[in-house]
Amino acid sequence: MDNRAIGVYDSGFGGLSVWRELRKMLPEESLIYLGDGKNCPYGGRSREDITAFATEAVEHLVAEGVKMVVVGCNTATTAAVEHLRSRWSDMPIVGLEPAVKPACLSSRTRRIAVLATEHSLRSEMFLSTAMRYAGDVEVVKVVGEGFVELVERSAEHSPEAEAAVRSVVEPLLGMNIDKIVLGCTHYPFLRPQIESVIGDRDIDVIDSGEAVARRVKWLLERYDLAADGTKPPHYKFLSFAEEHYRARLQERAERIAQELNK
Ligand code: DGL
Repeated sequence: MDNRAIGVYDSGFGGLSVWRELRKMLPEESLIYLGDGKNCPYGGRSREDITAFATEAVEHLVAEGVKMVVVGCNTATTAAVEHLRSRWSDMPIVGLEPAVKPACLSSRTRRIAVLATEHSLRSEMFLSTAMRYAGDVEVVKVVGEGFVELVERSAEHSPEAEAAVRSVVEPLLGMNIDKIVLGCTHYPFLRPQIESVIGDRDIDVIDSGEAVARRVKWLLERYDLAADGTKPPHYKFLSFAEEHYRARLQERAERIAQELNK
């Protein structure tokens, strides 16, 4: 048993989609969320830069006394998770990978799409996962152009967001694709907009949030790291950006928590 918090890190707001699943599945666990904010978006940056940001973030979380880190960012996972695991070899570090495997296994049309950042889609990690699980399934790779910026501005419900989502998703509709995998943790915040472009077509939208929460639960049990439930959990929010950004992160998380409690 271990009542220390779990650290969750993302380039910005996106990891809150993972934070939501962690809160839902592990209500007794304390969570410390670090949304970089200052260097976001990561998607077009080099592996070296992202590795440096991720290392600084994990150093911060470790200084806060966390027992585990969830890299709630596909881009930072593809760039840096191996480095982070070798530097902090005595602490579990959970990465985020697009749900290519379940999508390929259940695809009826044998053609799926993965939406992710430019960096993730050209990374070795993505390519090796896709190769390993795709088999005869064709994987169409698409960058969610502008999606991260829209979520960072909390502008998901704007006509601009609707247009950005339409221009990315509409071309996929005539391609005999039956799964759209959200391979960036910001994208689940645009799920309603994505689903509205899909309409009543038989296409599933899949993200990795719940699978990651399940993996964290398994690790907590496996290494005897779960909170003992004697203390109420606490939630903290950190950022490398200005206080205003950190406060927005916290407000957004509080709204997510209220929705979960409904
Ligand atoms: N949320 C991130 C991801 O899962 C990265 C977004 C970005 O900073 O470009 O890939």
